Amino acid sequence: MSDKLNDLQFKSFRDIIYNASGIHFTDVNRPILENRLRDRLRKTSIASLDEYLKKIKTDETELKNLLDAVTTNLTSFFRNKVHFDGFINHVIPDLKKRKDDRKIKLWSAGCSTGEEPYSLGMVLLDKLGPGWKIEIIASDISFNVLMKAKEGFYQKTKTTGIPPEYLSRFMIDVGDGYQVKDELKNIIRFDYHNLSNDSGLRNFDVIFCRNVIIYFDAVAQENVVNAFYGATNDYGYFFIGHSESLFGMKTKYKFTKVGDTCLYMKKEGRFKDE
Ligand SMILES: C[S@@+](CC[C@H](N)C(=O)[O-])C[C@H]1O[C@@H](n2cnc3c(N)ncnc32)[C@H](O)[C@@H]1O
Repeated sequence: MSDKLNDLQFKSFRDIIYNASGIHFTDVNRPILENRLRDRLRKTSIASLDEYLKKIKTDETELKNLLDAVTTNLTSFFRNKVHFDGFINHVIPDLKKRKDDRKIKLWSAGCSTGEEPYSLGMVLLDKLGPGWKIEIIASDISFNVLMKAKEGFYQKTKTTGIPPEYLSRFMIDVGDGYQVKDELKNIIRFDYHNLSNDSGLRNFDVIFCRNVIIYFDAVAQENVVNAFYGATNDYGYFFIGHSESLFGMKTKYKFTKVGDTCLYMKKEGRFKDE
């Protein structure tokens, strides 16, 4: 890309990306957008930004490629230990008590390369034991990260956060890395899903959407959080990233603190007298 984004081009790309995904580029992160566009132009052999703009207005696949390119996919196994403490010491015991059907359904929304859903899956398999049906939906807007997540292979440098007993129980040492075992893989379904659209997914006992809405503006955040609320079971749980907050947002989720863990709950419907 020879030229930089002019103001009009910046506004056009920013609006298209925002309307398609909720991801909001401010003036501060304009250079990041420029970089990612430069990369797309090179990969598609398109000569100018105006030509590329025309392309994404008519070519849905290329728009998806652009959305993929502008996402930030940083993640790790057992990210933010405090969340896992609350999940293990409060959420799982509570669900064990309440779920007579012995089925747990969890959504890792914005799952990136899979470290989050695999970590949660290891904990559920370990703490629930036999007789429980565990279903984890792991979704993302990026095809690249979903491919990596489905493969379930991780370099050894990336697995340091996994407790040793889980590493030997759920992963196979394959020399330069670890491969996720089928027992864990089989409880997770990886799916392409753009959080800006209704997924049709419902009835979750727990939703994790951590470090995703931080890239959205306030309007898009509220829409996504309200959609999650509708997808959460009565007295279900909602986790967001530790630097994210629903403060000031019109939402029915109730802030809850268990030990040092901050999380949200849908305190509605059945179980309210228990
Ligand atoms: C920083 S990663 C967070 C990964 C994981 N949740 C964690 O906390 O470690 C953010 C992920 O959200 C995804 N994402 C961003 N916007 C999205 C959207 N509109 N719909 C679905 N996924 C989205 C990105 O592709 C990226 O993989």
